[in-house]
Formats: sequence, C-alpha cells, structure tokens
Amino acid sequence: MSSMRTLGFLALLVSVGMAGCDDQVKRVPWFQTMNRQSSVETYEVAAMRPPDGAVPLGSARHYDLLAADTMLTNPVAAGTDAVERGRILYTQFCVMCHGDTGVGDGTVVGPGRLPPLPTLNLLTDRAIGLSDGYIWGMIANGRGVMPTYRRIPSDDRWYLVHYIRELQNAPTPSVDAAAAE
Ligand code: HEC
Repeated sequence: MSSMRTLGFLALLVSVGMAGCDDQVKRVPWFQTMNRQSSVETYEVAAMRPPDGAVPLGSARHYDLLAADTMLTNPVAAGTDAVERGRILYTQFCVMCHGDTGVGDGTVVGPGRLPPLPTLNLLTDRAIGLSDGYIWGMIANGRGVMPTYRRIPSDDRWYLVHYIRELQNAPTPSVDAAAAE
C-alpha cells in the first residue's frame, strides 16, 4: 500500500534526520540528486581580487610602530580647526590616562589602578622628540600597558597628533607641575 510506503519512508527520513549526520543523508539515493550536481565547489575557483588601484573604503593601511615612525608624516594640515578636532578626540580616548594637560595624571592613574609610568607623560623631552608618525603609530598599535586604538580612523589619529603637539607647546609646560607634586 502506497500510504504504508510513504509512512515507512517518513520513518526513514526521521531516523536519518535524527542521526544528524550529513554523510548518512548522502547515502539515501533520493538525496543524492542534491549532492551530485554540477556546481562550483567552495574554493574551486580562485576568489575574485579587487581591481588594480581599488581603494578600500573605511579602512587604511596598517603600519606597526617602527614603520609608522620611519615612513609616515602628518598629511593633515595644522591649524585651529585641526587642534580643536584633536582636542575632542583626546577627551574621548586619551584623557582618562594621559590627563587634561598630557602630563599623565588621568583619572584612572593611581594606587591600585594604572601605575603612574613616566611614559604616560606626553610632555617629557622624550615625548616631544617623538616623530608625528610614532605618535600616530602609538595610537594604531598601543605599546606595553597602552592598548591599541586602531578603531580611531587614520585621519583622526593625525588630528590627535596635532593636539598633542599643542599640549607640548603649551606656554606653561606641566612637567614642572608634575615634578613639584
Ligand atoms: C588605558 C590608558 C591609556 C589610554 C586611554 C591612552 N594611553 Fe597612551 N599610554 C598609556 C601608557 C600606560 C603609556 C606608556 C606605555 C609604555 O611605556 O610602554 C602610554 C604611552 C603613550 C605614548 C608614548 C609616550 C612615550 O614617551 O613613549 C603616546 C604618544 C601616547 N600614549 C598617546 C596616546 C593617545 C594619543 C591616546 C588616545 C588616543 C592614548 N595614548 C590613550 C596609557 C594610555
């Protein structure tokens, strides 16, 4: 009786299904029509490459600290607007560690929290002597205890560099204030 056969077939389907194994399913001839067909297998054809000269949207090339230091110069023109944008970014991403003036006395620095490393101070001669590319690279890569801020877009990193230079050029360098503490 055909209804019995249908029932039996359904039972088979269920048991095969319960086995949950792809290979077993393929052993049922009825399913093999799906399995054996002319189709392109995964990775059978080389993945399409972007055309020559294509520019990735929303991402920029990554440079490690050393490469950034030696290869990059600030492409963003300096000026009040650039410094202002840098200031906003600094307040969002850097101030909690490096502090309002850049001296390294942010709110998360202190006993039981972030140790007050001398390199947190962005106003030292050492930090003043860092290249623009190095500071850009610090944001892109982090170093030691400083995490990476790769999520800050490349241009915004350059605005931050302008703002750090502004802090470093401030008329009353806060290095003395820190030393007096
Ligand atoms: C979570 C805390 C933290 C935040 C947030 C942070 N930094 Fe740092 N930063 C550090 C620490 C700690 C060091 C010292 C790391 C070391 O000595 O290896 C440092 C070092 C640096 C240095 C190198 C100073 C030197 O003398 O070598 C620069 C430049 C710098 N940070 C820039 C930034 C900028 C710009 C931002 C915001 C995008 C930022 N940092 C956000 C913790 C932070």
